Amino acid sequence: MNRPRSIVILTGAGISAESGIDTFRAGANGGPSLWEQHRVEDVATPEAFARDPDLVLRFYDMRRAAIQTKEPNAAHRALARLEREWAGPVTVVTQNVDDLHERGGSHAVIHMHGEHLSAWCTACDVRTRWTGALIDRPACPACGARALRPDIVWFGEIPYRMDAIQTLLADADLFVSIGTSGAVYPAAGFVRLARELGAQTLELNLERSQGSAWFDQTRLGPASEIVTAWVDELLG
Ligand code: OAD
Repeated sequence: MNRPRSIVILTGAGISAESGIDTFRAGANGGPSLWEQHRVEDVATPEAFARDPDLVLRFYDMRRAAIQTKEPNAAHRALARLEREWAGPVTVVTQNVDDLHERGGSHAVIHMHGEHLSAWCTACDVRTRWTGALIDRPACPACGARALRPDIVWFGEIPYRMDAIQTLLADADLFVSIGTSGAVYPAAGFVRLARELGAQTLELNLERSQGSAWFDQTRLGPASEIVTAWVDELLG
């Protein structure tokens, strides 16, 4: 590969797997994971929230509590090191709603699917950092309304900061995808877009993703090992 300057890294659940956070899909042939007999995808929709808000709030309260007990792993820390030491811009676009990239030391992080540690007031549209539960309908600190929902992009909603992401992809010399199955759009389409716009493309994953054929190069293995090795290689 030619030596790149600007690097855009798309991450998915696989980068947090070794920190003890479950991925969404069980594997190449596995179906979606289940929570109390519900498909996770069925809990993560605006329709589910309208139908049974307690169920959805309980699910996210549990996940919000769980991520706060987890720690970043070597892959998160390697990306932070790359951002610190690389001469050009390094941006992480993550589908993950945990905060392990930030706690691992990365600063340039875009959470395209939202964040567990944020609550969104549907009355006043203000977002507030949130570490506790939402099930008891706490008041919004900004307007007082009891209309907070998880600040998560649900299926059928538009991911955050798509304009900024498209600009980054257009400027990228190297696009790297880490720990994502390539099953969920628009993120799954970033590799094709980046390629068409001139970037080299690299996939780092436990197994080949659905869009594997679009990558110039694929390296397989656990993120803690292959991401660290790739960053070491790049930084010489
Ligand atoms: P998936 O669960 O679909 O895919 C995780 C990928 O990580 C799979 O390809 C695994 O092989 C790989 N993997 C697992 N363990 C790994 C490890 N230790 N090292 C490297 N790779 C590993 O998760 P995502 O692709 O992130 O959306 O899912 C995309 C979106 O679908 C999520 O953001 C979420 C979900 O429904 C929303 O919530 C909107």
